Amino acid sequence: MICKRISYKNFRNIENEELELSPGVNVIRGENAQGKSNMLEGLYFFARGRSFRASKDKELIRFGENEAQLSIDYSRDESSLTSTLTASIPSQGKKLITRNGARLSSLKEMIGSFRAVLFAPSHLTLVDGGPSLRRSFMDIALSQLYPAYLDSLAQYNRALGQRTALLKEAASGKRIDSYMWEIYADQLAASGARIAARRWEYLSGLSESVSQFFSEMTSGRETPSLVYKSDAVSEGMTYEEIVAEGSKILFEQIILSLEKDIKYGINSHGIHRDDISIRLNSKDARLYASQGQRRSLALSMKLSEGEMAKRICGEYPVFLLDDVLSELDAGRRSFILGCLNQRQIVVTSCEDEHFDRDGVKFITVKDGRII
Ligand SMILES: Nc1ncnc2c1ncn2[C@@H]1O[C@H](COP(=O)(O)OP(=O)(O)O)[C@@H](O)[C@H]1O
Ligand SMILES: [Mg+2]
Repeated sequence: MICKRISYKNFRNIENEELELSPGVNVIRGENAQGKSNMLEGLYFFARGRSFRASKDKELIRFGENEAQLSIDYSRDESSLTSTLTASIPSQGKKLITRNGARLSSLKEMIGSFRAVLFAPSHLTLVDGGPSLRRSFMDIALSQLYPAYLDSLAQYNRALGQRTALLKEAASGKRIDSYMWEIYADQLAASGARIAARRWEYLSGLSESVSQFFSEMTSGRETPSLVYKSDAVSEGMTYEEIVAEGSKILFEQIILSLEKDIKYGINSHGIHRDDISIRLNSKDARLYASQGQRRSLALSMKLSEGEMAKRICGEYPVFLLDDVLSELDAGRRSFILGCLNQRQIVVTSCEDEHFDRDGVKFITVKDGRII
């Protein structure tokens, strides 16, 4: 995947700028608070359908304006046809997305067209942090690879929200028909099992790739392994078995936990509680790995996210690195840049000495302007 051009209008602190990108390494440099991350945020918008840091789209609109606009030209590789995506983000009403001039009916239709992997400082805690970080790592990656995954997630989250509301009603004494609980358990189990099957399959491939990157990065003898932990999955199950059997297991657990769930007001079972178990030489990396090893593992997971996209979709995504290089020591920094050598990357940085001048496109940003 290559992004050739991006334009911004009233996006964050950028009034009106157009940026040509090189198919190799692009470095967006400048002082603090000039708009470097804003530029990356605009690009990532097309991969995810939302910002990686704003919780509301409205925050993306330049202060005092009514609408932000973004547009990218991209192609699968250097020789294939160029496509254009545009996004209009109004302060009121719905976002408008077009691809090659045709209006898309939902964000879901856009996601997967332009694929990117983001490295942000928060990803350095993928191993140490809570399980929700690791679930969203899987969900963000899989949504870009399989359109149906996004559907399953939306169905699951809708049913989860409805069951939570019903749990509250039941706790306040309202009588709920038992078939209502069965309907929600059924929806959660069916969509949950499809999600679990994809996550499990993804992790099996990812684990291999993580091992490879990790051993190259650390030239160590320790071998990592990543295993998907879910009620829906037991050892030895295949993808099809998880979809079929996993949904029965989930259904039963959700039905059986009803009394407890009403008492505590939470959904105690389901794939929204799943996690990735990360081990180093068979020992829990969260407990036993050094801080440096945990970082190397997290970076290996992000690099592997790119490998998996290539394996499944046939080409590498664009790699976006926001402020991570300055957080790394020289060894890890040059390892990452070496791995991404033949890919398109867009990096934000306050310093340029990390980069070889040859073949690198530098873009200097000051006060929201490219200079
Ligand atoms: N909606 C907005 N409208 C105008 N300016 C904004 C908006 N959101 C953020 N900014 C400004 O953008 C700047 C931060 O940009 P950012 O890209 O995060 O900086 P950096 O170059 O350090 O990565 C700040 O000056 C902030 O005030
Ligand atoms: Mg920044």
